[in-house]
Amino acid sequence: MSTGNLDFEQFRVFLEKACGILLGENKQYLVSSRLNKLMEQQGIKTLTELVQRIQSQPRSGLREQVVDAMTTNETLWFRDTYPFEVLKNKVLPEMLRNSPGQRLRIWSAACSSGQEPYSISMTLDEFERTNVGQLKMGAQIVATDLSGAMLANCKTGEYDSLAIARGLSQERLQRYFDPKGPGRWAIKAPIRSRVEFRSFNLLDSYAALGKFDIVFCRNVLIYFSAQVKKDILTRIHATLKPGGYLFLGASEALNGLPDLYQMVQCSPGIIYQAK
Ligand SMILES: C[S@@+](CC[C@H](N)C(=O)[O-])C[C@H]1O[C@@H](n2cnc3c(N)ncnc32)[C@H](O)[C@@H]1O
Repeated sequence: MSTGNLDFEQFRVFLEKACGILLGENKQYLVSSRLNKLMEQQGIKTLTELVQRIQSQPRSGLREQVVDAMTTNETLWFRDTYPFEVLKNKVLPEMLRNSPGQRLRIWSAACSSGQEPYSISMTLDEFERTNVGQLKMGAQIVATDLSGAMLANCKTGEYDSLAIARGLSQERLQRYFDPKGPGRWAIKAPIRSRVEFRSFNLLDSYAALGKFDIVFCRNVLIYFSAQVKKDILTRIHATLKPGGYLFLGASEALNGLPDLYQMVQCSPGIIYQAK
């Protein structure tokens, strides 16, 4: 594959417009390693040709395949631990104390292969076990991602032992999964049925999503420019009910927007409350 400077620049512009991902100037090797096979299969020689093919054949599915290949889907169960502890021990008790009997809506805004929303669903179950009756109106978790391939994985609720080994304790595995043949596990129906998966690009309008009590937007904003990140955080704020909470990735911070969010120090971890 040729990744001349002009080719690469065209591709950078295409990718940022398509999904917000901003490639650093020295990331030619990343593009080559992720797109080589696809371009070979399609008989495409340069990135310029690739962008032209995507534009001239918008229904070919090539655009989706390219974006899928360029996204990083790295995830694990109960990633960083503290968000799920803070959810169980601080956020849920506080919300249900302030509005007893309310039905909660939670958004997992870049859910990858489903570990995040299913970890939230398991956390809700653990909360219910020690706070019987407090979540009687239930909770809905809306889990979205750009990647069709990831969403297809999520919906089956099935994982191989390699995925299971990343962050899931034996106790949770036994409680929340059923064996599904050698080396495969399926998440149990009550945990799965709380989660609704939808295809959604964070650059699109949020109007149809409705309002949320809690938003997890973790480990995705790091790939975007400062301007796109600010725009997304502003629009997430508009989806949060007043007093709702935003969870970012452990290495992510708000940097600004003091009129919209208040930082809440949780030791460990920081979360943000909508003003
Ligand atoms: C590194 S994973 C993070 C998964 C999970 N939130 C976590 O923290 O483990 C990033 C996910 O963001 C998704 N993504 C990237 N750009 C997106 C966009 N513009 N809209 C929606 N999802 C996007 C990717 O498909 C990928 O699944």
